[in-house]
Amino acid sequence: MSAKLMRLRSNEDQRGALIALEGEPGREIPFNIKRVYYIFNTKPDERRGCHAHRRLQQLLVAVSGRCSVLVDDGVTKEEFRLDDPRLGLYMGPGNWRELYSFTPDCVLLVLASEHYDEDDYIRDYEAFRASAREVSR
Ligand code: TYD
Repeated sequence: MSAKLMRLRSNEDQRGALIALEGEPGREIPFNIKRVYYIFNTKPDERRGCHAHRRLQQLLVAVSGRCSVLVDDGVTKEEFRLDDPRLGLYMGPGNWRELYSFTPDCVLLVLASEHYDEDDYIRDYEAFRASAREVSR
């Protein structure tokens, strides 16, 4: 599964903490960052995401509050809890993801390797499973 939780290097001193994220292939964030968006004011019983991407790489950070992410590569499913701004969830292409259990204070920052492109989305779960089987052949 090309999803992994990363502990981000935090510069902490008596004033507080600062995390800087730099992206480039081969570096800690392994892609050039073309787009940033953030999700907030999500109701605790709402689910977001529920799609996969063909090419997109992303890093998700709950900079405030908490949420859960289910990642499914078509074979294995894994649930991640984002509950600390020092944690980043890296997701490569070909992963179905669902975001849920948002706390009211949750601000989920997303760094993305590509501009927004509707053609990069797979929004139908059965179509995703079929494409995952195709890739693993
Ligand atoms: P949507 O794909 O439903 O969000 P989620 O993945 O959290 O379920 O996106 C909500 C709206 O925002 C939709 O109209 C598309 C738009 N949008 C952009 O304009 N740019 C973006 O980078 C993203 C991720 C979404």
